[in-house]
This record gives sequence, C-alpha cells and structure tokens, in this order.
Amino acid sequence: MPAPSYEEKYAYVEKRIDALKTNKTGDERQTEGEVFDRKTLMTIYGFMKKGLIDRVHYPVSTGKEGNVFFATDPDGDPLALKIYRTSTSTFKKVATYIEGDPRFRGITGNRWKFIYAWASKEFSNLDRYYDAELPVPEPVAVNQNCLLMEYVGDETGPCPQLKDTELDDPTDTYDEVVSFIIDGWRDAHLVHGDLSEYNILMEEGEPVFIDVGQAMTADSFNAKDLLDRDIKNINRFFKNRGAEIIDPETIKEECFAPEDDDDEDEEYEDDDEYDEEEDE
Ligand SMILES: Nc1ncnc2c1ncn2[C@@H]1O[C@H](COP(=O)(O)OP(=O)(O)OP(=O)(O)O)[C@@H](O)[C@H]1O
Ligand SMILES: [Mg+2]
Repeated sequence: MPAPSYEEKYAYVEKRIDALKTNKTGDERQTEGEVFDRKTLMTIYGFMKKGLIDRVHYPVSTGKEGNVFFATDPDGDPLALKIYRTSTSTFKKVATYIEGDPRFRGITGNRWKFIYAWASKEFSNLDRYYDAELPVPEPVAVNQNCLLMEYVGDETGPCPQLKDTELDDPTDTYDEVVSFIIDGWRDAHLVHGDLSEYNILMEEGEPVFIDVGQAMTADSFNAKDLLDRDIKNINRFFKNRGAEIIDPETIKEECFAPEDDDDEDEEYEDDDEYDEEEDE
C-alpha cells in the first residue's frame, strides 16, 4: 500500500482534533492562530499513529509561545499536549536561553530547529526532574514542536495555579517549594529559572512544577543568577501569603552543600549523617 498522502493524513487528524472540526471558517489549517500548521498536524498524526494519543480536545491554555491542549490516549486517559508556536517571537525568546545551555551547543540554523530544540529541552528537563523524583508532570514524548506529558488536573480542567489557590498552611507549601529548589539543584542538577506562582499547579494541596523549558543545568554560566531569581520570586510571593520565609543565603547553602555522589553514600543521607559544614 502506498504511504498516505498529506490529504489522507489530514482527513485522519481532522476527525480527532476537536479544534479542526469546529473551526470551519477561513483556512481550516490555520485555526488556533498558527498552532496547527502543516508540520504540527503531521507531528500530531505521528503521535496518533504510534498510539500515544487518540484525540486532541480543547485548549486549556493559549499563550504567546504556545498552547496546551487536553488530549486523551487510546484508553481515554488524559494527557497534556503542549504545542510551541514556530513564530519569530517564540524563536527570539528561545534562542537566548538555548545559546547559554551546554547541552545545546552547536544548534544553529533556522528558527524551526531552535524551537524543536526548545521543546526537546523542556522534555529532557522534565525527564531529569522526574528521574530525580521531583513533582513534575511525567514526560511522555516529544517530537518537533509538540510535547506530550502527564495531565495535571481532572475532567473539570487543569489544577489551579498557585496564585489562584488559597493555602491552608502557607509555610508548609513554601517549604515544599523550597525543597523543590534545593532538590532540583542537588538531585536533578537543574535550576528552574522561571519559578513563580504561575508555573506551579496545586494538585490536592501539593505543588506540581511546570513550564521547565528554560531550566538550566546547575553548571551553566548563569545558573546561580537564575537560582537567586527563583528564590527571590518565591520568597516575595510567600511572604505576602504570611509564610515563614527562609533567608536566601540559607537556601543556597543547602543547594551547594557537598554532595554524596556514590550510591553507597545514600545510607548516610538517609541517616542525616552527612557533613554539612564544609563551605562552598
Ligand atoms: N501537564 C499539564 N497538565 C495540565 N495543565 C497544564 C500542564 N502543563 C501546562 N498546563 C496548563 O497550561 C498553562 C500554561 O502552561 P506553561 O506554563 O507550561 O506554558 P507557557 O508556554 O509558559 O504558557 P504561559 O506563557 O501562559 O506561562 C498552565 O498554567 C496550565 O494551566
Ligand atoms: Mg508558564
């Protein structure tokens, strides 16, 4: 059998992407303001053919750089599909970050390449956090400008952002966010870099950290500046919420405390016996 034509593939995805079914006016391939361009549709088609997703339902967020959609897999289980726009403005934001990240050295060329690199950077950051058992959505797949991950929410919608959540015990939530900063640095070797009340979703009282595309490895040239900024943002927000705030220097000391690299050292960590006195 010959490979399906673009028209055949389009007809296939058209039935499975709600936005394409409902927006019939104008050029239907340009619905949702560029998000579903031809390449993006073919990327989604690829996810569908692989059995990763079955349908793309409604957008849960439409931003400048991209949209996040509620999707379902063939079992009907929810997934979040983040689609980056391949526009010039996205490219400009993305390029500055990628240039400074040692993992993306040598990425040059057109803006699509950069945006694909950005999506794959968000995926690999999620993967690192997830491997280190930090509370982020589980990454599922990435291809071109499309990132598929665990959906944080329920049938009624995504979990609320921290900024829209009333906190029973602000200090308790603050401590969890500070733990994410410290464990992120120590265990995932990452600094989030855009940590704020917008990029934390509250799932049954527990923070889930999202939007990790700009996260940098702890050895990046500007990692410590980003760490300062993250701590400042978080301290500002939680101070207003009446939490008991920890001094930024103390948080950073925790981040930079000597590491126990080897597995055999882990038992010491569990026993809380490791030496915290050595200075940076
Ligand atoms: N895994 C997810 N599960 C559920 N909802 C999500 C998920 N990821 C993102 N969202 C929703 O999409 C919104 C935007 O996500 P995110 O911050 O990653 O994108 P963004 O491109 O930075 O957009 P913005 O510029 O609006 O911050 C989130 O606030 C949340 O409502
Ligand atoms: Mg965001």
